[in-house]
Amino acid sequence: MSEDRKLLVLYGSQTGTAQDIAERIAREAKRRYFSAKAIALDSFDVANLLKESTVIFVCATTGQGDPPDNMKLFWKFILRKNLPENSLSHMKYGVLGLGDSSYQKFNVIGKKINKRIFQLGGETLLPIGLADDQHELGPDVVVDSWLKDLWLKLLDLFPLPPGKQILSDKICPPPKYKITFSSNNEIPHLNLTSASPTNKPCLEHPFYAELISNERITAKDHFQDVRHIKFNIKGSNISYKPGDVVMIAPQNNPKTIDSFLHLLGLNGNDVFYLEMNDPDYLLPTTLPSPCTIRYLLTNYLDISGVPRRYFFKLLSYFSTDEREKEKLEELSSSEGQQDLYNYCNRLKRTTLEVLQDFPQTCPRIPFDYLFDLIPPLKPRAFSIASSQKAYPDEIHILMAVVEYQTKIVEPRRGVCSTWLAGINTGHILVPLWVKNGTISFPTDNNIPVVMVGPGTGLAPFRSFIEERVQENFENNYLFFGCRNKNKDYYFEKEWNELCQKELLKIFTAFSRDQENKDYVQHRLKDNGELIWNLVENRKAFFYIAGNAKQMPDNVTETLKEVIREYGHMNVEASEVYIKSLEHSRRLQVEAWS
Ligand code: 2AM
Repeated sequence: MSEDRKLLVLYGSQTGTAQDIAERIAREAKRRYFSAKAIALDSFDVANLLKESTVIFVCATTGQGDPPDNMKLFWKFILRKNLPENSLSHMKYGVLGLGDSSYQKFNVIGKKINKRIFQLGGETLLPIGLADDQHELGPDVVVDSWLKDLWLKLLDLFPLPPGKQILSDKICPPPKYKITFSSNNEIPHLNLTSASPTNKPCLEHPFYAELISNERITAKDHFQDVRHIKFNIKGSNISYKPGDVVMIAPQNNPKTIDSFLHLLGLNGNDVFYLEMNDPDYLLPTTLPSPCTIRYLLTNYLDISGVPRRYFFKLLSYFSTDEREKEKLEELSSSEGQQDLYNYCNRLKRTTLEVLQDFPQTCPRIPFDYLFDLIPPLKPRAFSIASSQKAYPDEIHILMAVVEYQTKIVEPRRGVCSTWLAGINTGHILVPLWVKNGTISFPTDNNIPVVMVGPGTGLAPFRSFIEERVQENFENNYLFFGCRNKNKDYYFEKEWNELCQKELLKIFTAFSRDQENKDYVQHRLKDNGELIWNLVENRKAFFYIAGNAKQMPDNVTETLKEVIREYGHMNVEASEVYIKSLEHSRRLQVEAWS
């Protein structure tokens, strides 16, 4: 394969759709004899962009108009003003944006990337594709036609090697990895290798932490189980600051694993070796080799996730049962996207549950293809809720146990939170490491800080407040909201003590203790003069964190109203004021779902 026939697909994906499409582009490129890889933007070393000649960007835009989490670093980098003007003049590129036209900032991320790469000298292969979730036939309509144009353009630039035809998608492509089973079946000792004491723990070498406590902090009769979990990180070499997040690698539920083994006719104790089969697919860095099938299913494959479209396509290659094969082909076709959505995504049907619907096909799945069928389990990020100054050897998190109902009888459960909630202290070790978060707090303790954190949005603020009060610094203003004072008011005792010492001022809103909804933004409004004085005269930093959907927008709107009223500004001036707060990082928002 000539050097030219090399395609890099970089994606920024929040829900997995952009990743799915990026991987599809890489597969379709391989059928056209390109060497191709799909990589998340933040897993790619941007310095290498200087070496890439053909790059496709697949970028989603989230509801708020923000970039997806796995391209946040790239986003910051590419928008830097000091990048040399023609630094990407060696590069041909195309951008496919994924968005939702019911939001005001439809596809802004894709559009901005497209413009920026062009400014940096990139040569456009074709006009940007703007896929839209609101399209009555789904985003695939735009994706399919954009891809058609892309292949025309690329094959024009890089014709197929002489005598070669595009490989048909009726033929199953080779698996990513080669697998050989060990004949003696001696179960390898799967060492839990913690990071060496001189290195910081990371994905490849996490720290295996013991739980110190795992306490439910919502009332028994509250609708939600929220945990205050403390990890022991003594000897881990971890250092963290307020605003940082702890990454946790979860495990699948043993019952789910047993059902999976049974369905595919696998023996959990079988031992296999994993080898490269294609230079574009590097071996997973978090999986030992040799490895047992049970270890693979416990720690690596996301068997409880909602399967992607390609899963059905691959299964269809293996199926020999006419009815099942037809159904699989239908669900993986462009026309079947609405059916696939209704069957899988809307109900959050898991991989295991889907496999149970195709019992004839399951035993025919070649083991090698499990890595192609099922993506790896992703580590989960939690805002750290403790200060290392207050607890040098501990990390605390505030975690809502995810459980909800869809039309499927069995409730849907979050893999990581359900696993953590079920761990007793000292029983199972939890692999974790720490990363910088997106919010950062001022280091000058004389600067006032206003924190708006309803629900588990409180977590990073507990970390910061604990840090400040260690040195008896006040100027901390916390706005907390929950449903009921007696059911989900987290850390009430701690806050009361700090208020008594005058190290903290807290303003609470209990949304369901009276007839009308009372929210944190109502408290902001009641205290508008104080807020204005803090922000304008004392240069306070203002933070919003939480998972309620509309909350960050509603709170920002209220802040604007306060600015207008007490700063005597009109709408435009208050917008400019807010923009300048954002620009100087004096207004920061951390939202998650
Ligand atoms: P609710 O569930 O009673 O509507 C933590 O989740 C708290 O945030 C709850 O009291 C919740 O109230 C509240 N909340 C929900 N939506 C909100 C919004 N848009 N703005 C502020 N608070 C909100």
